[in-house]
Formats: sequence, C-alpha cells, structure tokens
Amino acid sequence: MITHRRQHLIKLEEKLQTCENCPLGKTRNNLVFGRGSEESDLVFIGEGPGEQEDLQGAPFVGKAGQLLDKIIDAAGFKDDDYYICNIVKCRPPGNRVPAPEEVQACMPFLRHQIASIQPKILVLLGASAAKAIIDPKLAITKARGKWVKMGNFLVMPTFHPAALLRDPQKKIPVWQDFQEIKRVFDEMKDGIYEDIFNDEQ
Ligand code: URA
Repeated sequence: MITHRRQHLIKLEEKLQTCENCPLGKTRNNLVFGRGSEESDLVFIGEGPGEQEDLQGAPFVGKAGQLLDKIIDAAGFKDDDYYICNIVKCRPPGNRVPAPEEVQACMPFLRHQIASIQPKILVLLGASAAKAIIDPKLAITKARGKWVKMGNFLVMPTFHPAALLRDPQKKIPVWQDFQEIKRVFDEMKDGIYEDIFNDEQ
C-alpha cells in the first residue's frame, strides 16, 4: 500500500527531476533524493551526493555510506527505522562543499521531505548539515553529541562518516553519539522518553 507520506515524496522527487534552481542541477547525472522508510521516526541528513551517489541516484552508497550503514547496523537500528537524505540533492562538482546559495535553493525541498515524514529525531552528519540546520556559525567539534531541540524535533549533530575515514580517532565519539541516539529512539518508541528540555520551555 502506498501511504500519503510516500505519495508526497514521490511527487516531490518527480518534480525535482527537472530542477535547475541552482547550478548543481545542470551538472548532475542523477538527482539524489533519499532512501529508507518514510514512516520512520529518525532521519539522517548528510551534506550532498558524492560521485557514487550521483551515478547511482541514491544517498550514502559510496565508501562513507558503507561505513555509515555499518555504524547504523551496529547501533541496533533496523532497515525500516530510518530515512537518509542530504542537504543538497545534486552533486557539487569535485565533491566541494555546497555553496550557501545552493544550500538555500535546496532547503525548501528538505523541509518538504521532513514535513512529509514527520520524524522525531534528526541526525546531522557533519558540519555542512549542522550549519545549514542549526547555526551557520556552529563548530561541529563542539556541537557534536549534544541534543538540540528545534520545534518538534530532537536534533543531534555528529561527525560525517567521511571524516571518520580520514581520522579514525573520531570513531569513538561517533559511536557514543549513535548509542545515545539509539537510547532516545528506543525510549520514544516505548513511550517512556522524558523530555530533558521540558524545564526550559
Ligand atoms: N556524503 C554525503 O554527505 N552524502 C552522501 O549521500 C554521500 C556522501
């Protein structure tokens, strides 16, 4: 059965196939929209497609993606527990960081995606995602591992899996972050999550 969420996302993805709202639309091989369960409480958000993602049309399918899949699996998440997408849906040439105008042009589509899925937890993979969603001045080394409450979402920035490939020392903090994410995910699923931000509201 195709759910309403899935229908919304299919429509949006179809619309974006011809998007040229920023220069990345002219150089992409494939739009990289998202993968995973639209019914999930958890969305992972990366920076933007790399070479493999651009060729295959799916997010996190290259080396960094394989590492991400391993971490997600080792933390105990099942395939239908999560959805994965990126800040920008088209590959920045040479894997450069997406320009602020490119991020701005693509953000409405990410918002639409998130509004359709209605997750409870957003995990921001790396500085680009964390800056685009939390604060352009954010330093990922300081911000990682700390929950931020944004509207109805609990948001956790952590290091990008590609950073772990460059610097294996980052594996320990990322593992801690994923265990914390799983803890809160499970508590929410079991209805026993106590909002740590309640006193501040
Ligand atoms: N890096 C990202 O940020 N996203 C991908 O989809 C692949 C690599």
